[in-house]
Amino acid sequence: MSLVTKLYDHEAGLVAAFHQHPFFRLFSEQSDTDIRRYLTERYVVSENFVRWYDRAINGLTDPEARSLLRKITLDETPQNAPSHREDLIADLQYIGVPIEKILSRRASKSTLKVINRLNELVAYSSDSDYDLRVMAALRMAGEILVAEEYRHVVPELEKRFGLTPERSRFYFPHFQHDQVGGSSGGIDSHTDSFHPILERLITNEEKLGVAIDASDRAYKVRISLFDQFAQGDTRKQIAKVILAIAASVLVALPAIKPLTEKIHHVDYALFLASLAPEEKVFYHDTDQWLFNRFRETGDARYLKNVGTFEAVNDVWGPGP
Ligand SMILES: [Fe+2]
Repeated sequence: MSLVTKLYDHEAGLVAAFHQHPFFRLFSEQSDTDIRRYLTERYVVSENFVRWYDRAINGLTDPEARSLLRKITLDETPQNAPSHREDLIADLQYIGVPIEKILSRRASKSTLKVINRLNELVAYSSDSDYDLRVMAALRMAGEILVAEEYRHVVPELEKRFGLTPERSRFYFPHFQHDQVGGSSGGIDSHTDSFHPILERLITNEEKLGVAIDASDRAYKVRISLFDQFAQGDTRKQIAKVILAIAASVLVALPAIKPLTEKIHHVDYALFLASLAPEEKVFYHDTDQWLFNRFRETGDARYLKNVGTFEAVNDVWGPGP
């Protein structure tokens, strides 16, 4: 197993843990009001995204890493199209949040603390591992976990508010272009575009340790954002889930399956990275077909295997 693959295996474990957070385990149990409140508060973090990446760019020494982050920030703010913040506001308005509520919202203490901690992940340091730490941290907190969060949001917004992937200007495109093994218009996802840089920077076990540590720190910051939402109407249900988790520890097995599923995403991303661009198109088209079927039918099962080997079975085999 290559060094960078060991990092991706570790990331897959963090992704599996992310979905075990009570907020996501009970995501569909929340009231419409709670969902709107969470997404409106979450807007503040998105509003800080470009500033956060820009801060990282200024401290990086690796030209390829600088160039990638620059490209991502340009994707967020294209010259001749609405910015991602404008698109996000449009989606929030679609689900019934008035613009004044979005733009005049004062972020909670918890959210401001998370934003500060996200900024600390990229705080400048002259040490030689700065580039590696920043890139591993941003891949986890700025890309992978964004897609994993929206994996819950996208189907729920369609079911409750009719925000279909076709109508969605922000949540669906971000789910599509941020995930491991994802693509948009045949171009690698943001997450996957970190691969050549990390592969080059992780030259030995010590560097791998640096990347894993950065990934862990980034995960802890990002997951802490959701603690504040795991309250209110769902508090009782969460208590039940926590008890259920405690009970499941006794049998240990339930945690293994999601981890295995996520490792499939990693294998698949590495497989794609090994292909020539023209071969890659076939697999990206497969995912695109599943996205299209989801758009046409509204059946969220079409999203389940996007970014995995099973996607090919879904398309060419009997279907999900
Ligand atoms: Fe992204």
